[in-house]
Amino acid sequence: MEWIIGCWVLIGIVIGWYWLKEKKLEKRGVPKGSLGWPFIGETLDFIACGYSSKPVNFMDKRKSLYGKVFRTNILGTPIIVSTDTEVNKVVLLNQGNIFIPAYPKSVRELFGKNSILHTNGSPHKRMHALILGFLRSAPLKARVTKVFENSVKLSLATWKDKNPIYVQNESKKLTFDVLVNTLTSVGPGENLNFLRSDFQEFIKGLICLPINLPGTRFYKSLKAKERLMKRMMTILQKRKESMNFTDEKAPINDAVDLLLRDSSESSEKQSLPLDSISGNIIEMMIPGDETMVTAMTLAVKFLSDSPVALQKLVEENMELKKRKTDSGEDYAWSEYMSLQFTQNVISETLRMANIINGVWRKALKDVEIKGYSIPQGWCVLASFISVHMNEDNYENPYQFNPWRWEKVEATVNNNFFTPFGGGQRLCPGLEYSRLQLSIFLHHLVTTYRWVAQQDEIVYFPTVKMKRKLPITVTSINTTP
Ligand code: HEM
Repeated sequence: MEWIIGCWVLIGIVIGWYWLKEKKLEKRGVPKGSLGWPFIGETLDFIACGYSSKPVNFMDKRKSLYGKVFRTNILGTPIIVSTDTEVNKVVLLNQGNIFIPAYPKSVRELFGKNSILHTNGSPHKRMHALILGFLRSAPLKARVTKVFENSVKLSLATWKDKNPIYVQNESKKLTFDVLVNTLTSVGPGENLNFLRSDFQEFIKGLICLPINLPGTRFYKSLKAKERLMKRMMTILQKRKESMNFTDEKAPINDAVDLLLRDSSESSEKQSLPLDSISGNIIEMMIPGDETMVTAMTLAVKFLSDSPVALQKLVEENMELKKRKTDSGEDYAWSEYMSLQFTQNVISETLRMANIINGVWRKALKDVEIKGYSIPQGWCVLASFISVHMNEDNYENPYQFNPWRWEKVEATVNNNFFTPFGGGQRLCPGLEYSRLQLSIFLHHLVTTYRWVAQQDEIVYFPTVKMKRKLPITVTSINTTP
């Protein structure tokens, strides 16, 4: 009997302590909201919404109770969630001086301290500019176009014999190998197979409990990272030995060249050790296994559900194909990028897919934005999904409507459209991603028609198709 009373007293104390904490936060001007239950906060509702067809419900419920910016407690973190475009903009633009990235412990530990995600200030600026310059350069785009075009054509040629095709799996095979090639010049073969299997083991641990004990998911991922690092160090060593660092005009063929050359040119204090370069290259492989794959798969999903948009896409792409067939010339990367309706399909896919649904940041000091107080040390989630799926920003937000982008003035960098983030951490792979998506869609819609089987999008922990999107393809007469 006594222990029952003891338990109730303890529960009372914890609830009372939480209540006082909430009152104190309100006094400090922290946005309204609730930290939920002791320890678990509002995580259960967050996850339940993540598994539903409308993950944005978590935000919408609280927005209607507390306003566009509210406090909550999810995944073990008290956090201020912003669904307000102006607040999001301030958070994104004040990278480094007020806000720094705040990723879960598993991500921090698996990436290591030299990851671009954890660097701030001038080392971050330097690394970001380097990668951006490389991924946006015309020679790189020309090379990626050749390599990716070739892979897409080879892959598509096998589809008709494999019905049904699982789009998610096929996209993964395409994007990962080409990204590894862009980064390291490693082509098909044993080395690539090892890199692929170790990478897949590594990435499984990114969202998990960071318990480093034999047998745990986290432990297996760390081991896979060690193997990846070893393999990558060998690639770097060999390249370093064969590189002529004195020839300033030597072409930069891949990210290995880029980072090794930069490291040799930097002062001793600034130069990156080989293990940091290896880590940076490994983390840049993630889009090849995750974000790009999801973007391609969801583009096919949305087009399957929107025959009118698909028809318009086919017309635009058939026209280009006819021009190229008649002239006998190769495709230039800029031709893929100038397909306007195709670009609108890509924008609409990214808006609705919300592959990265928002970014997590931590405040380095007390800050006030639009009257909302964010205390030092608090995390902020700048929610992109709430902005992308809000009917004040987009008419009928759940309708796949590529035509809406014809009316939007700035399609890429406006505050209402941030699939690639913004500010100093704006994704350097933005153009690279759009180019690959355009190449994929062009060859797909000018080669096949398809019928998609019933499937659903799952939003938690990452965006995926539940059944990997099975489709049945039939070849079309390719003479337009
Ligand atoms: C559809 C595909 C992609 C999406 C939706 C996407 C989205 C994003 C977002 C939202 C961020 C910002 C994260 C933050 O602010 O904390 C980011 C950063 C980054 N992305 Fe992407 N990305 C994509 C493809 C790529 C590709 C293909 C590459 C490389 C080849 C890439 C490399 C990076 C890097 C290195 C960063 C870190 C930038 C920094 O912190 O300075 N991404 N991406």
